[in-house]
Amino acid sequence: MKKQFCLDPLHPIEKASLDELRCLQLERLQATLRHAYENSPVYTAKFNAAGVHPEDLKNLDDLAGFPTTSKADLRENYPFGMFAVPVDRVIRIHASSGTTGQPTVVGYTREDIEMWSDVAARSIRAAGGQAGDMVHVAYGYGLFTGGLGAHYGAERLGCTVVPMSGGQTEKQVRLIRDFDPDIIMVTPSYMLNIADEMDRQGVDPASLSLRAGIFGAEPWTDAMRRELERKTGIDAVDIYGLSEVIGPGVAQECVESKDGPTVWEDHFYPEIIDPQTGERLPDGEEGELVFTSLTKEAMPVIRYRTRDLTRLLPGTARTMRRMDRITGRSDDMLIIRGVNVFPSQIEEQLLSVESLAPHYFIEVEKQGHLDALTVNVELASGAGEAQRETAARSLGQRIKSYIGISAGIRVHSPGGIPRSEGKAKRIVDRR
Ligand code: DLL
Repeated sequence: MKKQFCLDPLHPIEKASLDELRCLQLERLQATLRHAYENSPVYTAKFNAAGVHPEDLKNLDDLAGFPTTSKADLRENYPFGMFAVPVDRVIRIHASSGTTGQPTVVGYTREDIEMWSDVAARSIRAAGGQAGDMVHVAYGYGLFTGGLGAHYGAERLGCTVVPMSGGQTEKQVRLIRDFDPDIIMVTPSYMLNIADEMDRQGVDPASLSLRAGIFGAEPWTDAMRRELERKTGIDAVDIYGLSEVIGPGVAQECVESKDGPTVWEDHFYPEIIDPQTGERLPDGEEGELVFTSLTKEAMPVIRYRTRDLTRLLPGTARTMRRMDRITGRSDDMLIIRGVNVFPSQIEEQLLSVESLAPHYFIEVEKQGHLDALTVNVELASGAGEAQRETAARSLGQRIKSYIGISAGIRVHSPGGIPRSEGKAKRIVDRR
């Protein structure tokens, strides 16, 4: 049975006017720039090289004159060189592995963990959670920020946490059946895998207690939202975050509007820049998302380039601005015969072919001088063998007409695409 819910009150800052918010941001931004400049040699050197000083920031727009930071800065200063406090004040370390193998390390003071717990709690609240709910956390625990970030947020909100972590899919379903959680926090690709396991166990998801899923840590489309909601009967909402900025809970979609994550702007100041020129773009225009932390102690980030592509939109359910769904990471952009392609565009198309399951990966190879792309998909379990050909043709045609490229389509048998237990690997690059 699904529990009825009445929402807990919002934090006052979520209802503050834009003027109040901008005032708070300016104050916090000035303090953060001073903190970074005075306590982190990396920022001292960066600001000096760019000829800027924290005192130069008189209003929020002045931030555009400060240098950006990137993953390369974290790598060069591996492991603790970006910290702005002595290591003995750091009570937690997380790290993300990335593609190059060299982990990027982040650190948190006690105050940072408090703030993170607050924004993660606020995120669960925005997704429709409340004190007394049970939250099943299937994000991985460990160096990845997903599990512990969700965990501390759920505890802070007053929920009962089931710290299941990723993997052991059969057991995930058993615990969901036995414990009756209200909310699940997991990557959307792993949720699909869990939903398939429910099918295998003959469990009707609609008969379960789950009310909402807080899905993130990887790009997913509105088409995937519809698919997940149809399969599971729960509200699927988007949570965004990255380790360098804090972890999950930088932005969260509100369940009442489902129109893109609200950026918790009282702690993280967003900008959009042109990824090529680095120039700041106005709200509404798509580009690379950049964040400046406003309250972090251990590892403040100034104009951190996320590589995530999106745009900033005005607030709806909250005063704070929203971000549009992430189209993709600039690193994941494929250029196929001059056309820019993101896995999310392929995802949208394959979800509209009924006889295909929502599992996929994309292979890129060199054919002569050109890049060739093959989309690996899977026949839906209910579809007959006869539909394999038509499904492939139909997906190929959709990709050609909506994205403008020719792609090879390989339709695997049901179960043929490797399943995700965390972040799905969408691109296999054989070039
Ligand atoms: O993935 C933090 C997180 C955990 C967010 C759980 C949400 C839920 P990283 O491992 O550092 O941190 O990876 C960050 O993941 O720059 C995006 O490219 C991607 N990402 C995270 N959330 C979303 C989302 C966590 N909702 C990187 N939509 C980010 C699209 C996302 N991409």
